[in-house]
Amino acid sequence: MSVKPAEQVFSREQFDGILRRRFFYAPSFDLYGGVSGLYDYGPAGCSLQANIIDLWKRHFILEEDMLEVDCTALTPHEVLKTSGHVDKFADWMCRDLKTGEIFRADHLVEEVLEARLKGDKEARGIAHEPIEESEDKKKRKKKVKEIKAIKLEDSVVQEYETVLAKIDGYSGLELGDIIKKYEIGNPATGGPLEPPIEFNLMFETSIGPSGQLRGFLRPETAQGQFLNFNKLLDCNNNKMPFASASVGKSFRNEISPRAGLLRVREFLMAEIEHFVDPKDKSHPRFHEVKDIKIRALPKDVQAAGSTDLTEITLGDAVSTGMIDNETLGYFVGRIYLFMCKIGMDESRMRFRQHMANEMAHYASDCWDCELQSSYGWVECVGCADRSAYDLSVHSARTNQKLVVREALEEPIVVNEFEVDIDKKKFGPRYRRDAGKVEQWLLNRTQCEREDLAAELAKNGKIVAKIPDVAEPVEIESSLVNIEKRERKEHVREYVPNVIEPSFGIGRILYSLLEHSFWNRPEDADRSVLSFVPRIAPSKVLVVPLSSNAQFTPLVTQLTRELRKAHISAKVDDSSASIGKRYARNDEMGTPFGITIDFQTVSDGTVTIRERDTTEQRRGTIPDVIAAVRAMVFEGATWDEGTAKLAKFEGQEA
Ligand code: ATP
Ligand code: GLY
Repeated sequence: MSVKPAEQVFSREQFDGILRRRFFYAPSFDLYGGVSGLYDYGPAGCSLQANIIDLWKRHFILEEDMLEVDCTALTPHEVLKTSGHVDKFADWMCRDLKTGEIFRADHLVEEVLEARLKGDKEARGIAHEPIEESEDKKKRKKKVKEIKAIKLEDSVVQEYETVLAKIDGYSGLELGDIIKKYEIGNPATGGPLEPPIEFNLMFETSIGPSGQLRGFLRPETAQGQFLNFNKLLDCNNNKMPFASASVGKSFRNEISPRAGLLRVREFLMAEIEHFVDPKDKSHPRFHEVKDIKIRALPKDVQAAGSTDLTEITLGDAVSTGMIDNETLGYFVGRIYLFMCKIGMDESRMRFRQHMANEMAHYASDCWDCELQSSYGWVECVGCADRSAYDLSVHSARTNQKLVVREALEEPIVVNEFEVDIDKKKFGPRYRRDAGKVEQWLLNRTQCEREDLAAELAKNGKIVAKIPDVAEPVEIESSLVNIEKRERKEHVREYVPNVIEPSFGIGRILYSLLEHSFWNRPEDADRSVLSFVPRIAPSKVLVVPLSSNAQFTPLVTQLTRELRKAHISAKVDDSSASIGKRYARNDEMGTPFGITIDFQTVSDGTVTIRERDTTEQRRGTIPDVIAAVRAMVFEGATWDEGTAKLAKFEGQEA
């Protein structure tokens, strides 16, 4: 019997060999030399991805009754200008003018300082993680060049560790200062680099043959969900809170995509936009997750230069204010449960809070679910409170309300600035811009209305720059009146806030592959991918003992029965030994093997083998299929699923 060991040294060579041989995924266009950051998924990868998505949809969309949408990837410039992506969706890059190489500034600092710290540990004789083998020899040479066994001053070690703990929060200017201060150059040549400059990550294109409608490939699926808010609210019978969800491709022109599937230029995202009342971010199902213990890395710990994890229940994290509100905490819990369900190693999962200066332009609190792999800790799910940002900016830009209206049980008295427009005069005065000027005035906030009222009182007119109107517009007091009045309101109108869990499926799939990978201790050449049955690309390997013709009808019968039971199966009737055939499928992560032998011919029984332990049981075909169904679809363990089957001492030879 073989058991997955608690710890094993990770061999990238062996791991990559399996991914290639079993065609989980491979570089796109490799006949043409490939393009960085683009990958094709093969049959095993597609099946694994489909199973992850299927479980994701059941765990989130079905369980929480979310509203699924499928929006286009092509997005007009105007939408992404309004959302802030045109101006702010950028990373910092440095160029080596001599070699033409380009580096993402924060990743470069991280890579070089980590290499120097490893070199320091080597010089001090302290054990450190093995120097990683990169994807190809050229890159390996680059990295190794920086990793020299050089002892650093204690104070320098401390400084490097502080910089690394805060690495996600630096501005371009600060990164430039760090690069200068620590003399960070091109890792391969040591040559100097230009100061960091901003690079927008969106792929620009034009829509239509005239080329006049500028557009982008979307960098997130979220915008389509925001733009459909009114229709979705209507679908939900105007009831709040509710969530929409979408699974689709996003595109980012990453500066220097290495790290395989973890940083690519086209990737599948699964995003949820949960719309909630800003005055009440409690969640009715929070009690279901409150006792879950997460490993948290809050922002103040990182700001103090540390990466020490705190074990805390979600209940405590929310009640102490570490996590801003129950809904955000609820989704952190649901993300945790999803990861466990698909078989992620819980001990290699943490939740890291964004530091204030790291947060995306739209977010007010954000917790990333990070998964550890041979590439270090990598964000795989971002869980952000986007507040009312997106709905507000799209509403202001389009002059369309994106709000919730709720009847109040008791009317309330409000004292607010109101805008009265003399519509008869507006048309002749502003002609085709009249509608835009009117909407602009009506869309001002209370603070803005107060300022405009003061401007009117002082100058007798307002001068305003209005979107899509070429010249500044003058609005005289004979056309508009703005004053504070008391009124009774029977309806409450508000812009909802949005809690957004955003999943990168490729990063999750890659991390799961690493978390599932191990070698049999008794034979290091035999690798296993221990996928949970629900997620495994194929559930059953059917192996006839030999090529004896008597087995053929039984193989046909068994595969037909498996198909009828919705269990995906593959037949291996090659001449390789049973042990070899099992080993090949252990590499694919196939959880069960069913063998047809001479006893099957006489009494209709087959053996079933469990991939990780290699344990076997024997039973009739219907009983074995029932066992597989219970283990794949109902989450039964091996012992539970096969309780009715007889023990069997099989041969692995
Ligand atoms: P990073 O800081 O690593 O670039 P990010 O903060 O830009 O990531 P988000 O904008 O929060 O990532 O994107 C949401 C999710 O989309 C991430 O959690 C990740 O799983 C996925 N994702 C983002 N960029 C990529 C990429 N280049 N390749 C693969 N997945 C990605
Ligand atoms: N929609 C989340 C993100 O792109 O970061």
